[in-house]
Amino acid sequence: MIAPMITPMLALDEKRIIVTGGGRGIGLALCTAIIDAGGYVGILDILKEPHPDCQALVERSGRCYYFNCDITKRESLETAFGKCVGALGGHIDGCVTNAGIGTDKPFLDHTWEDFERVVAVNVTGTFFPAQLAVRQMLSQPVCERGGARGSIVMIASAAASHNCPGHLLTAYGGTKGFVKSFAMQLGHELATTGIRVNSISPGYIETDLNLDLAKIRPNVKHYFTEAPPMKRIGHPKDIAGGLVYLLSDVAAYVTGHNLAIDGGMSTGNGLTR
Ligand SMILES: NC(=O)c1ccc[n+]([C@@H]2O[C@H](COP(=O)([O-])OP(=O)(O)OC[C@H]3O[C@@H](n4cnc5c(N)ncnc54)[C@H](O)[C@@H]3O)[C@@H](O)[C@H]2O)c1
Repeated sequence: MIAPMITPMLALDEKRIIVTGGGRGIGLALCTAIIDAGGYVGILDILKEPHPDCQALVERSGRCYYFNCDITKRESLETAFGKCVGALGGHIDGCVTNAGIGTDKPFLDHTWEDFERVVAVNVTGTFFPAQLAVRQMLSQPVCERGGARGSIVMIASAAASHNCPGHLLTAYGGTKGFVKSFAMQLGHELATTGIRVNSISPGYIETDLNLDLAKIRPNVKHYFTEAPPMKRIGHPKDIAGGLVYLLSDVAAYVTGHNLAIDGGMSTGNGLTR
């Protein structure tokens, strides 16, 4: 028999979640979904001026806090993370490592600086926020209900697992391969602690970043709609649904998993038909 408790378990009531890179794009959609599901959010983002919708979320919800921070700089990250935990009442139930940057160019055109920057944001900027979150969660009492302590979700990419037509992603894909593998390894290591760790791999998602790219490289627009077997570009909301699931108690038995949300691209791209 199906348990009748699924809908309440999907709610994030009173859960306190830190989100890196929530100032715009996919991260902002994730923060909006967390608030919508009843949670509280602390955002860490390098933007001095986050997207107006982010500012509105902070001002109107009363459950969203924004901290300017560079996740690649130890002092900046540790200071902002501490303030964020304080604003959330000294307790966190989740952490979403979403901040990331891309490089999209031929392998031989990558400079040392390009590579160092993408590794700093996507690798260092995932590893250490996760470490701070785990340290904080382990310092908190275990939830009496099911022994849960927290949920960490890392935003990887379809590029971690396969080629994405229209893009050249050696450096970016390599860093996202780290994110996917790191989530699996950490999920395994923490499995008995009550902390779950999973990753989400989005395919092509309609963000300002991609829409701007399509203006200067019109051919990528074709791939956004034709390469996914479902024949449409993804929406940030598509990622938000998966995130709420992984943060919620519905996913209590799920750890070390990579959830592809990509219109079927992980099955092979639609251009091959
Ligand atoms: N858009 C897509 O199609 C797509 C596909 C797969 C994966 N992703 C991943 O999703 C995540 C979000 O991407 P997006 O498309 O919303 O990009 P975006 O550029 O709109 O958002 C990224 C956010 O991260 C923040 N950020 C960047 N560097 C930072 C730093 N050093 N410290 C703190 N914050 C920093 C930015 O200010 C921004 O708010 C990224 O990890 C990206 O790799 C995106």
